[in-house]
Amino acid sequence: MASSVAANVPLAWRRPVKQRSRLLRRTGPPHSRVPFAHPSEQEFARFLDYYRIRWVYEPTSFPIAWDAERVSEMFTPDFYLPETDLYIELTTMRQALVTPKNRKLRLLRELYPDVNVKLLYQKDYQQLLAQAGYGTLDSVHHLRKQDIREILISPTELETRVRALGRKISRDYRGQAVVLVGMLKGVTFFIADLARQISIPIAIDYLALARYGPAQPGARVKVVRDIDIDIAGRNVILVEDIVNTGLTLDYVVNLLRERGPASLEVATLLDRPNRRLAEVPLKYVGFQIPNDYVVGYGLDYRELYRNLPFICVLKPDVYRGLEPPRLGLVEDPAG
Ligand code: PRP
Repeated sequence: MASSVAANVPLAWRRPVKQRSRLLRRTGPPHSRVPFAHPSEQEFARFLDYYRIRWVYEPTSFPIAWDAERVSEMFTPDFYLPETDLYIELTTMRQALVTPKNRKLRLLRELYPDVNVKLLYQKDYQQLLAQAGYGTLDSVHHLRKQDIREILISPTELETRVRALGRKISRDYRGQAVVLVGMLKGVTFFIADLARQISIPIAIDYLALARYGPAQPGARVKVVRDIDIDIAGRNVILVEDIVNTGLTLDYVVNLLRERGPASLEVATLLDRPNRRLAEVPLKYVGFQIPNDYVVGYGLDYRELYRNLPFICVLKPDVYRGLEPPRLGLVEDPAG
């Protein structure tokens, strides 16, 4: 084994070998499409799917020992996570199995110092989640895992999409300036992230509405916080977290149009077209989503869950009031 010490191995020999795709079928959740060698691998894949972290099963083999010039041993980490450029080798808890893996891992790191690889114990799952942008879920103690039906949009997916929207806006308004008008309060996280991805000059302002009844055309809606900026003759983008019926937007678009902006467009993170009652042109849309109750990344249920770094679907029991609200908040009659 002495010959495999990194310094003695010519660089030309250290060629990772791409493996053929292990895809068994093309439909169903990703963790059901691959023939895993071990049940713990499938469990881990299911875990990654749940959190919407992308993965590839055993995509690359790394030669780690040679007999003269011929490769005599290869190491194939179980998973590759492209979003964090990380290879993962799972381990059972039995020390007898961990020791040889540690040896392989040590060689891989010596021979391929640019490759990120991690031996993963059960307890490391949490750390992986933190790297994928979830933070420490333990600290979000008011959200019980059993309240979530599914994670719809992961932190990485949010980041990627918001970056793309920011770039598009910067391209569309090149050489000009824009006023972003955010509709409080759900928009706070989205507008903060979007604004940082826009490279042209922008001003930011906010508008808050109060609703006094079920939304209908001509419903009792009033502005409780108006914008400070005079938008006459300026390019305005109205920024929303979600468009459902479109009635809120319809009201606000008409309101702002009367003030004579040079242009007025709408950017929304989420679009739920199934609920639409009023037709509103949406220029920039993050994600179209189905008709479920979603929270997180600014969106709330009775003011809760806005601080989740992902967007998830609550189980109907939670919002039908079968579960007690958790911060002891008084129910908002405006709902
Ligand atoms: C949400 C969202 C939009 C509106 C969209 O506000 O921010 O303003 O609903 O619904 P519509 O298309 O059916 O009109 P919400 O009342 O939840 O207030 P919040 O942003 O303060 O949470």
